[in-house]
Amino acid sequence: MDHFAYTDGRLRCENLDLIEVASRFGTPTYVYSRATLTMHYRRLAEAFAPLKPLICYSVKSCPNINILRELVALGSGMDVVSGGELHRARLAGCSPEKIVFAGVGKTSEEIADALGEPDDDVRGPDAPEAAPIGLFNVESEQELLNIAHIATALNRPTRAALRVNPDVDAKTHKYTTTGTAENKFGVDLRRARDFFRKYARHNHLRLCGVHIHIGSPVAQAAPYVEAITRVLTLIDELAAEGIVIDTLDIGGGFAADYRTGQSLAAADYAAAIVPLLRERVESGRLRIILEPGRFIVANAGVLLTRVQYVKSSGARKFIICDAGMHTIIRPALYEAFHFVWPANVSPQHEPPDGVRADQLDLPGLERCDVVGPICESADFLCQNRLLPPVARGDIIAVFAAGAYGMSMASRYNSHPLPAEVLIDGQHARVIRRRESYHDLVNAE
Ligand SMILES: Cc1ncc(COP(=O)(O)O)c(C=O)c1O
Repeated sequence: MDHFAYTDGRLRCENLDLIEVASRFGTPTYVYSRATLTMHYRRLAEAFAPLKPLICYSVKSCPNINILRELVALGSGMDVVSGGELHRARLAGCSPEKIVFAGVGKTSEEIADALGEPDDDVRGPDAPEAAPIGLFNVESEQELLNIAHIATALNRPTRAALRVNPDVDAKTHKYTTTGTAENKFGVDLRRARDFFRKYARHNHLRLCGVHIHIGSPVAQAAPYVEAITRVLTLIDELAAEGIVIDTLDIGGGFAADYRTGQSLAAADYAAAIVPLLRERVESGRLRIILEPGRFIVANAGVLLTRVQYVKSSGARKFIICDAGMHTIIRPALYEAFHFVWPANVSPQHEPPDGVRADQLDLPGLERCDVVGPICESADFLCQNRLLPPVARGDIIAVFAAGAYGMSMASRYNSHPLPAEVLIDGQHARVIRRRESYHDLVNAE
């Protein structure tokens, strides 16, 4: 699953002791394992190899430029949803043709930038060359017309896929289900047909792809199968009318192990999806794009936080930490489960077989809420959880925090953003320094 494990009651990442990492770099700190990141990327790439897909890592899940560089070195492309993410992808050295640009609200400036005409005032002095990207994922008619208009004005022909909403329920949290008719994303199947008829032959915008992204995390393969089957029917109907769709982007959403064994293996997703597409890929009729984020990076990161105070109120016990909803918002926003456990425990409190679960059957655990310093009742890392006894000054680890952790962190209550550290064997490297109070007010 990952390279975080307890030895003699102490949590280690690869060859390093995380109590020492916390002492050296302070808290809160996101710690990433390079070996885990690489392992998850490779597993996905190997499982889907029969489809020769372009894997476009979803930058939003963990956008640190150093993480992007690691993935670019493994051959990854990038899925971006803003000019800022596009900037990161370019700066990380991603080949422009391996960049896909999604998102419902692309501005004209962002579109021009993606076509190779950036606004240098926004990009700053260190900006890399802005070559045109490989593909736009278009979400509405007005957006398509805007891209076409800008591509024509700049005389830069480009390619686009239409995000189609296949009306499949991926059975995720209501805030992360994106493929049903009620969601703001994409265009429904009926409208999609008309859309292609109307725009497939535009001079400067080749509408030659279909894009889907049904939600996240999608714990089963069945919703993918249903969604892909629906859009393949659309692709065949369009082919019968002479409209050629040569690219299918099946999005991201592949799950991660927040609890041990919770996610499907890459091979399980591939076993269901590859047979649907293989023949089309082998005959050269279809090119496949994947946009995984969470699957690659979630299990590659933990968040280390230090216990500030322990107190009881009524029947409840609160462990108050220096990380909270401003550091990792997933528990507050999605009621998401993260395994939370002290980084230093007595041998009897090591998770048996490394298992991470809602509840571990161990002696001497205490029921408590682990909370942060923010002035909100939603500010918790976990609630009503049985944990080993902890004291002021202890280090607690929030597991599987690599995706949508740091990327959704904020400075709420004027807490500077945490540090990020990348571990590679026995080496630890700061890949984002902890912010200072100066950083807090610098732009004001
Ligand atoms: C269009 C699109 N692609 C890919 C992703 C990545 O999803 P995940 O990190 O679950 O793989 C998202 C996430 O929201 C998305 O909106």
